[in-house]
Amino acid sequence: MAVTRTFSIIKPDATRRNLTGAVTKMLEEAGLRVVASKRIHMTREQAEGFYAVHKERPFYGELCDFMTSGPVVVQVLEGEDAVKRNRDVMGATNPADAAEGTIRKTFAESIEANTVHGSDSEENAKIEIDYFFDKDEIVG
Ligand code: RTP
Ligand code: MG
Repeated sequence: MAVTRTFSIIKPDATRRNLTGAVTKMLEEAGLRVVASKRIHMTREQAEGFYAVHKERPFYGELCDFMTSGPVVVQVLEGEDAVKRNRDVMGATNPADAAEGTIRKTFAESIEANTVHGSDSEENAKIEIDYFFDKDEIVG
């Protein structure tokens, strides 16, 4: 299996509860390496652009409110089959459906305040990494 990259966000519900380290530890223990990381407060424009694929969904406005409600940590993760590896350790979108031992089962507050984002394909990972990082900010 090839070493690839994915994009991750530690969401405002997690930074508010001081869980940046705890979440990152679970990512690392799952075989992912943090090759870029920064704490930012997303602007409304950044959040709306990032979630543009969900524009027609009923939760779009609230999701953008939530993602701009506090700081987030954006990260580039590297590892074997990184997209799937990350999705596996994240768990299901709704924490009520997430498997034991996953980040969302352990920490998420609700289907919206669900602690982490992870890219859903390699193609989207590249787009999302480029959305938040310059090349020289990623050190593998
Ligand atoms: P993500 O994109 O954050 O990694 O999560 P995901 O693929 O598991 O979920 P997705 O369907 O892409 O939804 C993006 C984010 O929108 C919020 N959401 N709220 N209120 C709702 O019914 C609802 N559904 C989704 C969550 O924060 C979800 O992660
Ligand atoms: Mg998604």
